[in-house]
Amino acid sequence: MTANQPELLIRAASAADWEALAALRDLPGVRAGTLRLPFAPPEQTRKWLENLTETDTVIVAELEGRIVGLAGLHRHKGRRQHAADLGMSVHDDYRRRGIGRALLEALINAADRWLGISRIELTVFTDNEAAIGLYRQAGFVTEGVLKSWALRDGALADVLVMARLRP
Ligand SMILES: CC(C)(COP(=O)(O)OP(=O)(O)OC[C@H]1O[C@@H](n2cnc3c(N)ncnc32)[C@H](O)[C@@H]1OP(=O)(O)O)[C@@H](O)C(=O)NCCC(=O)NCCS
Repeated sequence: MTANQPELLIRAASAADWEALAALRDLPGVRAGTLRLPFAPPEQTRKWLENLTETDTVIVAELEGRIVGLAGLHRHKGRRQHAADLGMSVHDDYRRRGIGRALLEALINAADRWLGISRIELTVFTDNEAAIGLYRQAGFVTEGVLKSWALRDGALADVLVMARLRP
């Protein structure tokens, strides 16, 4: 971001953020790129935040006091504890301003340097060019395609399986 733009704050998500995060997760663009269901009760997000554990690293992006992005890692257990799932969403009205990249860089840094997570994995709809471009730039590679993986707006959609191994 340039000097004239407001500063983007990346911080841990807190249970107190639940209403803003419930609204963000319910945006049409966010739903289209994720597995969020329509008419999800907002309190689901409150419970989710309250029940996070040490296996979860969940962060938000805040711009001038408004939450504009959410991203998280969920670490696996046992013999897969070196690996974590990644999910992320940027507010529909704040796309293509570098917020997704800032969130992803923060999580990758935490994974690489603090959490000992050497494999970050995710699924992404095959036509989600924004997310695929972002992930590729960050070093994720495609490992496969899962066909008819999830229902999206009336049709079953395919996803790519992508992963980033710590260099
Ligand atoms: C995917 C998502 C997180 C990207 O966030 P963003 O803040 O808009 O992305 P950024 O501005 O940081 O862009 C970083 C890079 O992503 C890629 N990208 C972002 N938007 C793009 C678009 N509309 N078309 C093509 N590439 C795009 C580009 O490579 C971009 O780098 P560049 O601007 O230097 O070209 C956002 O679109 C989103 O939340 N989508 C809905 C939810 C979702 O799909 N989540 C991912 C689930 S797997």
